[in-house]
Amino acid sequence: MSEKIHPVTKLVKSHALIDKAKYEKWYEESIENPDKFWGKHGKRIDWFKPYTKVKNTSFTGKVSIKWFEDGQTNVSYNCIDRHLKTHGNQVAIIFEGDNPYIDKKITYNELYEHVCRMANVLKKHGVKKGDRVTIYMPMIPEAAYAMLACARIGAVHSVVFGGFSPEALAGRIVDCESTFVITCDEGVRGGKPVPLKDNTDTAIHIAARQHVTVSKVLVVRRTGGKTGWAPGRDLWYHQEAATVKAECPPVKMKAEDPLFILYTSGSTGKPKGVLHTTGGYLVYASMTHEYVFDYHHGDIYWCTADVGWVTGHSYIVYGPLANCATTLMFEGVPNFPDQGRFWEVIDKHKVNIFYTAPTAIRSLMGAGDHFVTRSSRSSLRLLGTVGEPINPEAWEWYYNVVGDGRCPIVDTWWQTETGGILITPLPGAIDLKPGSATVPFFGVKPQLVDNEGKVLEGPADGNLCITDSWPGQMRTVYGDHDRFIQTYFSTYKGKYFTGDGCRRDEDGYYWITGRVDDVLNVSGHRLGTAEVESALVSHNLVSEAAVVGYPHSIKGQGIYCYVTLMAGNEGSDELRQQLVKHVRTEIGPIASPDKIQFAPGLPKTRSGKIMRRILRKIAEDDFGALGDTSTLADPAVVDDLIANRQNKV
Ligand code: WT7
Repeated sequence: MSEKIHPVTKLVKSHALIDKAKYEKWYEESIENPDKFWGKHGKRIDWFKPYTKVKNTSFTGKVSIKWFEDGQTNVSYNCIDRHLKTHGNQVAIIFEGDNPYIDKKITYNELYEHVCRMANVLKKHGVKKGDRVTIYMPMIPEAAYAMLACARIGAVHSVVFGGFSPEALAGRIVDCESTFVITCDEGVRGGKPVPLKDNTDTAIHIAARQHVTVSKVLVVRRTGGKTGWAPGRDLWYHQEAATVKAECPPVKMKAEDPLFILYTSGSTGKPKGVLHTTGGYLVYASMTHEYVFDYHHGDIYWCTADVGWVTGHSYIVYGPLANCATTLMFEGVPNFPDQGRFWEVIDKHKVNIFYTAPTAIRSLMGAGDHFVTRSSRSSLRLLGTVGEPINPEAWEWYYNVVGDGRCPIVDTWWQTETGGILITPLPGAIDLKPGSATVPFFGVKPQLVDNEGKVLEGPADGNLCITDSWPGQMRTVYGDHDRFIQTYFSTYKGKYFTGDGCRRDEDGYYWITGRVDDVLNVSGHRLGTAEVESALVSHNLVSEAAVVGYPHSIKGQGIYCYVTLMAGNEGSDELRQQLVKHVRTEIGPIASPDKIQFAPGLPKTRSGKIMRRILRKIAEDDFGALGDTSTLADPAVVDDLIANRQNKV
């Protein structure tokens, strides 16, 4: 198969931190002697007590992952204090408001003061090392202050995306027994308020019914809008901050002390609390940030993710700040006031490095080139994508129209679990193929296996595993180490299984083909089909539901729901709307079903297992190729499903 190749240009090569020879040398070193390699690169962060052990990891038995275990450090110290002597007046965070007339620059000196005050407020109200603090915030600098304040005092943060519903927030509060919440009165997105404090109040009620009592809510004032208030429990941040000192010593943390929990969807059950720890995570996040984005001192760097996702953790906050970068935080959305917003912001703040998701690229591509070409974008040097496979058409548009054919695109493959980027081009070293995440980062050993676990060599299509640990890897599922072992290390014994399908071509390039489990990727957001199903069946008229993905031109995947109603009920458009609303209340707008098909029966095997393969085919309108249906308990249900399909093309 011949793919289009974009070779590394002279200009990029001359400027880049890593060229091809260096990539190959370092990669080999990292695989042959990980202790030596990471022993050296672990020093990129400051340690209060240097480590003597580097790697101590096992993917078998009880699965244990430890990096730099006898070292001591502090993430907040590394992201702030160590830069102050030489770069205190440098801008750390550029805040670009939802409203295009609002922006703000925060220097490292100012960041220090804000974070120390927030840390002191947490301490004043009893937060201690190891306590879990839930952060439910919009994209404002205080979200970063809150994360860094937790890290400073050793509290473990759990950031919950502001688009999640009160139900979803409550579930996450309960799972990690978090009794302290940081939120704000209202967020603002696309000119509309988001009632974060009211949602928090509702979530706290739901959590209380499950015996987790939130005792304090720290509220940042963003809009001044009206919210409920529980005296004694709720605290205004601006009032509290004025009562504490602007200095707070960073707590010495062991390398393996927890830094944060971040919930993510799996193929079964409730979202899992992915646990990341201190030393290895920061080494990996900062190192990948520097080399993948070819970050040079003084560059203006913008990642459009939300801090509610891992991309925001590693590549808006921790990686960039550890590298003394200038990182832009954008409160708004790509299409407000209009679809030229991204490109306008790039010109306004002279952004050099821009990192976004394929879904945003596809939707802006659909808006027309004039939104892009009316801007200059001359500051841009590098583009990146993350979250889902990017189709070559969108890649070429991003490259030619947004980047004027001048900027390499780094297609970065990774996961919440991996902490940082694992497969990606390094811009000065690797020729690009549109749609391929290309090659592994230092220390990463990908392997393809077939469904029986047989290792596939050379060009092949299979299931993507990683055979050895890297410092940014998650350490456990919070409170459930067995689930960690079960989910990631039991499908293919002794290997970390990613859940992704992948092809390796004749040049050794990796092409991620998407999830091979029951996880959907909707606009780059991960969603378990089981979660949407359980939201649907919690509606009193629904008796059974099955959810599958189908190709969607903007979102990557759309959500297709088969719903069986309780006996005696008829499906209608009104009920469809009700169900969509119900799922939004249970999970959040990101889980809104795109298609709902009322089905009198679902295709099941005689043992009662739903045959999703058939449901996927019908959702794709590809029912000519249903394959073997002879094992179905009642083959007739399939005819009804086909006749009433919602995606006729
Ligand atoms: C899943 C992880 C960590 C980034 C944000 C998403 C898919 C991620 C790519 C890419 C193809 C990608 C995978 C992965 N994915 N990046 N560059 N090309 N697919 O994090 O929510 O943990 O989802 O996103 O399917 O398993 P996440």
